[in-house]
Amino acid sequence: MKTYKIAVVGATGVVGRTVLKVLEEKNLPVSEYVLFASSKSAGKKVSFMGKEYVVQELTEHSFDKGFDFAIFSAGGETSKKYSPIASQKGCIVVDNSNAFRMDSTVPLVVPEVNPEELKSHHGIIANPNCSTIQAVVALKPLEDAYHIKRIVYSTYQAVSGAGAKGIADYQNGLKHYLEKDADTSYLQKFAHPIFNNCLPHIDVFLENGYTKEEEKMINETRKILKRPDLKITATTVRVPVMNAHSESINVEFEKDFDLDELKNKLEHSPSIIVEDNPQTEDYPLAINAFGHDEVFVGRIRRDESVSSGINLWVVADNIRKGAASNAIQIVEKLMELN
Ligand code: A2P
Repeated sequence: MKTYKIAVVGATGVVGRTVLKVLEEKNLPVSEYVLFASSKSAGKKVSFMGKEYVVQELTEHSFDKGFDFAIFSAGGETSKKYSPIASQKGCIVVDNSNAFRMDSTVPLVVPEVNPEELKSHHGIIANPNCSTIQAVVALKPLEDAYHIKRIVYSTYQAVSGAGAKGIADYQNGLKHYLEKDADTSYLQKFAHPIFNNCLPHIDVFLENGYTKEEEKMINETRKILKRPDLKITATTVRVPVMNAHSESINVEFEKDFDLDELKNKLEHSPSIIVEDNPQTEDYPLAINAFGHDEVFVGRIRRDESVSSGINLWVVADNIRKGAASNAIQIVEKLMELN
């Protein structure tokens, strides 16, 4: 059986550590793993696959060893600099950053939605933004059946999506909150306290008043669904939840639908778990989605203000399905195509 060499870049970060965890759960045909991070972490020992691995500093020569795949989770600047070097050396890069997502020559892939894009790549494959991934998993079967006319996204996103500094702001916030301390100099990531608060501000603001996170959701959804003119609007909000993003998604369709049939389609779609029983107060929750790779969908109800529309509540683990697991699923698909 063919075996592969895999580089994990950003192995010490929030996403990178989950990449290692998900790889441990899988039984991929891998002969060698090498873990990379910045010079700050070089020499650090990480236990992985029952062994101790020494983290190596990422340099321009890191890919001289002949890797088959590299999973990058080290931010956009690192990806922009090192992904082309890796791919020139024959290594296929699956990149978790936003560096290449909107590049028309780079496939942007969610394996349940557009796996066919993996057949033609130029050495770099982009992993979509976390909030986009869970949304399109839920929307794909509905797009196929009823043809989407318009989407309104409203998100409730966990602090883990903001990396280690975002988590620290949340954890340190409790102390400041209890002490009624107005000093915000402890904040490392956010513009305002995230503890006991909701911040309608993820990533930077753009000239049109949207944030970059909102723009990412809009543009990436259009690219993945191959609907460049699809009408979409979004408000993305950071909430004081440690893990798992929740999303309210309002969708209008071109075609009419039967609600039971629509629910049935969601229930039988890959990686979707429908949790939707108002009688038993059963609906998707961030605390239940944490640690899972599925996308949980509930509160499915007709939007009575339009002729054909629904509201959905969609929850998924943003670090697993929204980043690490989706990237590893892409690697698995590429191995199948090899
Ligand atoms: P390090 O821990 O050595 O700084 P997070 O998003 O949780 O902050 O994680 C970011 C990840 O990206 C970390 O593993 C970090 O390594 C890594 N990283 C940041 N900058 C670089 C770089 N220039 N080269 C390689 N890895 C980097």
